[in-house]
Amino acid sequence: MHMARRIKIYEGKAKILYEGPEPGTLVQYFKDDATAFNAEKKAIIEGKGVLNNRLSEFFMSGLNEIGVPTHFIKRLNMREQLIRNCEIVPLEVIVRNLSAGTFEKRLGIKEGTRLPRPIVEYCYKDDNLGDPLVTEEHIAAFGWASHQDMDDILALALRVNDFLSGLMLGVGIRLVDFKIEVGRIYEEDFHRLVVADEISPDSCRLWDIDTGEKLDKDVFRQDLGSLANAYTEVAHRFGVMPKSATKMQKPKLIN
Ligand code: C5P
Repeated sequence: MHMARRIKIYEGKAKILYEGPEPGTLVQYFKDDATAFNAEKKAIIEGKGVLNNRLSEFFMSGLNEIGVPTHFIKRLNMREQLIRNCEIVPLEVIVRNLSAGTFEKRLGIKEGTRLPRPIVEYCYKDDNLGDPLVTEEHIAAFGWASHQDMDDILALALRVNDFLSGLMLGVGIRLVDFKIEVGRIYEEDFHRLVVADEISPDSCRLWDIDTGEKLDKDVFRQDLGSLANAYTEVAHRFGVMPKSATKMQKPKLIN
């Protein structure tokens, strides 16, 4: 090899983390891999990584600007962004505005029903267990997060929900639900919490307000059409990808 390879820190289903250029930083690389149902369903969607890198940059930098701290520092290229290294809290924090997905199944509330207020749920991050839903009792008893952390995580999740809901509304999209991850950044004796991982159509449910068309990973989960086209539509509405830059799909048979 003629090039020094970067040190890989972690490889997940949709992203790879490499050692960053400075202490306390990492490089987050977005792959084209799509997985659903805990990786039972898999595919490579050409261009998905590029779109999610751009969209996550857009949402995270918007959050940074309004004072909601995130791990995002800057985008480096088409597929990579520089992020702050943080200790990931082992929870998937889900905020729901309308019923869908596992919530719909668990509680038998018809898809699309508006909830009386945003509902925040926590799942324990463990692929072998399929990320089970847990309560604050479990989280406290097993020490996954302190009481103070949980207060901060709830506040963070609701601020992200308000910000994203408004942003989406502005481009004719309803934010049905989303998932964030939260990380700790240590500063001397204390730590602060930041929004980590990614915010993209992989981790949100997004419906067109007028047509109800799904513009998120449900297109892949439910075989509703081209995932790349759906994500490209979201990117175009936010003006984050020039139209010419997204001609990355070869013609495909639609069945
Ligand atoms: O599947 P469920 O209805 O619980 O998902 C709620 C929201 O969280 C959806 O927007 C989904 O895309 C997201 N999610 C995720 N990663 C998971 C589980 C859910 O991004 N592992």
